[in-house]
Amino acid sequence: MPRPITIAPSILNADFSHLADEVARVSSADALHVDVMDNHFVPNLTLGLPVVEAIRRCTDLPLDLHLMIEAPDRWAPAYAEAGAASVTFHLEAAQAPVRLARELRRLGAKAAVGLNPATPIEAVAPILGQFDMVLLMTVEPGFGGQGFLDLVLPKITALRRLASAAGLTLAVQVDGGVSLDTIERAAAAGADSFVAGTAVFRADRPDAMVDRLRQLAQRAHQEQP
Ligand code: DX5
Ligand code: ZN
Repeated sequence: MPRPITIAPSILNADFSHLADEVARVSSADALHVDVMDNHFVPNLTLGLPVVEAIRRCTDLPLDLHLMIEAPDRWAPAYAEAGAASVTFHLEAAQAPVRLARELRRLGAKAAVGLNPATPIEAVAPILGQFDMVLLMTVEPGFGGQGFLDLVLPKITALRRLASAAGLTLAVQVDGGVSLDTIERAAAAGADSFVAGTAVFRADRPDAMVDRLRQLAQRAHQEQP
């Protein structure tokens, strides 16, 4: 059976002055990716809990929270309580990732962990079973519109193998530079969840772009032996 594909547009590249309208333009998405940045973990500042709660009220799409913040042990649970379907915190920032993953699950969210391009998957291997999803950054985190880093492709493949060998149902998400030009190689490497900001929100028809991206990813999976 083919693995389900998730396309999660990132609102980082949407028009923040018309967020509700922007969200309505991606109704064909599987989830909405929301980037929380604190200007400490990354050199950019975006939005926090009140805005997430406002987005929650204007869409039925599952919210896929990506916390690029310091001290996620302190702040991440509130995003699960606000109704996020999944909460991703960064391994590089967490003090007690196992405890935090269990707390997120207890609050009803999927637990996910993010790895920057320089962080090897070996860092998460011993605790992989605690997570529903691993997010592999395919750019340095902080900004939309950057180029996809092909050097992450071997990490995607290695992570997928690791999860299969351990018998885990793990979503492998890629985030950064995902577009019509890059999604097939990420999917062929083993990714099944795709964040796309610029590619979707700068398209004339964001909904149609979501469908095209999904088709390309599905085709790449089908072509795998
Ligand atoms: C970057 C964010 C991404 C970003 C993706 O740090 O985590 O989610 O919005 O934007 P694009 O698709 O433009 O690279
Ligand atoms: Zn993100």
